[in-house]
Amino acid sequence: MKSTPWWKEAVIYQIYPRSFCDSNGDGDGDLAGITSRLEYVQKLGVDAIWLSPFYTTPNKDGGYDVANPRDVDPRFGNLEDAKLLINHAHELNLRVIADIVPNHFSDQHAWFQAALKADRGSPERNRFHFYDAKPDGTPPNNWISLFGGPSWTQVEDGQYYLHLFDSSQPDLNWENSEVNVDFETTLRFWLDLGVDGFRIDVAHGLVKEDIQENHPDPAGLSEALRLDVEMETSKRNALLESVPYFDRQGVHEIYRTWRRLFDSYGNRDVMAVAEAWVHPPINATLYVRPDELHQVFNFDLLTAPFDGAYLFDVINRSIQLNAMVNALPTWALSNHDSPRVASRIGDSESRALALFVFALPGSAYVFAGQELGLPDGELRDSDRVDPSFIRTNGAIKGRDGARVPLPWSGSHPPFGFTTGKPWLPMSQSWKSLTVESEMDNSKSTLAMYRSALELRALHLTGTGDISWLESPLHGSMRSDLLIFKRGSITVVMNLSIKAQEIELQGVPLIISSGELTNLDGTTLMPALSCMWCLN
Ligand code: GLC
Ligand code: CA
Repeated sequence: MKSTPWWKEAVIYQIYPRSFCDSNGDGDGDLAGITSRLEYVQKLGVDAIWLSPFYTTPNKDGGYDVANPRDVDPRFGNLEDAKLLINHAHELNLRVIADIVPNHFSDQHAWFQAALKADRGSPERNRFHFYDAKPDGTPPNNWISLFGGPSWTQVEDGQYYLHLFDSSQPDLNWENSEVNVDFETTLRFWLDLGVDGFRIDVAHGLVKEDIQENHPDPAGLSEALRLDVEMETSKRNALLESVPYFDRQGVHEIYRTWRRLFDSYGNRDVMAVAEAWVHPPINATLYVRPDELHQVFNFDLLTAPFDGAYLFDVINRSIQLNAMVNALPTWALSNHDSPRVASRIGDSESRALALFVFALPGSAYVFAGQELGLPDGELRDSDRVDPSFIRTNGAIKGRDGARVPLPWSGSHPPFGFTTGKPWLPMSQSWKSLTVESEMDNSKSTLAMYRSALELRALHLTGTGDISWLESPLHGSMRSDLLIFKRGSITVVMNLSIKAQEIELQGVPLIISSGELTNLDGTTLMPALSCMWCLN
């Protein structure tokens, strides 16, 4: 049974266009490359693709620095290529989600270029956050960019502009109604071209408060925002609740107006998913109230250790919080901003966890390459281009490792990704991880993903909630085994580094991330694995 509307329990495949497939040998993936590989994506069994930005961009932040949101960057092709991609996806029954970047433009956008030429106090400057320097010449406040360094850059006449990210990404002023008018034009532009939904970048950041006030602990705050920095939980929580530029009430009004726009497309069932890193977790649910957006990313699993008690808690919490607003959760193990799950928690662990989350209610996001079990690429510092690497003089390695191009075929780099030189180097060790080689191997991660998604569509979507059978809080209080039932399926995950004896008692096993063995009549479930059985 398929759930309706389409997005409710969709599996959504995230494509980072620069790294997916290059059609013209310049080393950068492009739209025609994506179109040429859509059959592969369809056969994976996903319902939709989400395309990270492919708009006109100087590419200072992987395209999240948009110079014209209503055109395609020549690196990726042109509008005709975008149309072909969307149409072909639809022919294959795949929906298309575009990325919309409303917190900032590129400094190359016509608006910002006009603002630079205009006077202080002008309507052109009012579309961004331009402020005078303090009397001593320093920036209007002490905020730190999320990519490191100050969040203010000074222009020729002495004013400063705000950029929460790179200095090439000036923040837009959402108090200025021209900004929303322009974004509504952009939303309609892509909807009219055929897209089915949007992923909203930094959805929690649009509204700023107290711009001219210093934050009491900007360095602490910027560390708290970095998930790779260890910090005592209570300290981190206190800091995360104090961010003057995130999760302000005003953002919700913007999404209510967008929701009306989406709904005006009637039976197209347009959806939007928010990238909202907010705190405390209950605040995320505000973005998916019935008159706002449809989904909000749950980032818990991007950082969760492979630990039963921990996973049990974050999974339950997400299901319960979403239920309060009648929404379903989303699950993501990897994306273009975080280390790949296979590198972060390990190979067997990442396969087990993927199988586990595919059985949960809600929507699952798969970052291209995850289905191959790809690890992060091994890069030298001289290969890195991420602005967070550049702005911190290398103190933060950045996100390039997760963005190394996909290996398609053959036995040497660039593995069919390009006929030229890939924009980031690919490792010879990926030989056994190409699509071609995994396609031929019934034990590959790719084979497991394909079967899991087929079984999910067959047995799980539309079957409602889960009930835990054994968990850290129930039954034997073991945290090395998580078991739940959903619909006609029982899901078992062995988190221990030891194989465990299990009693299958005639219940048919339908998929497993590891290989079960039979020893003297008892079945052994391998260490760090997950399986689904029919009840
Ligand atoms: C989001 C994107 C990230 C980008 C940032 C600024 O977090 O996912 O890639 O750098 O926004 O646009
Ligand atoms: Ca290309």
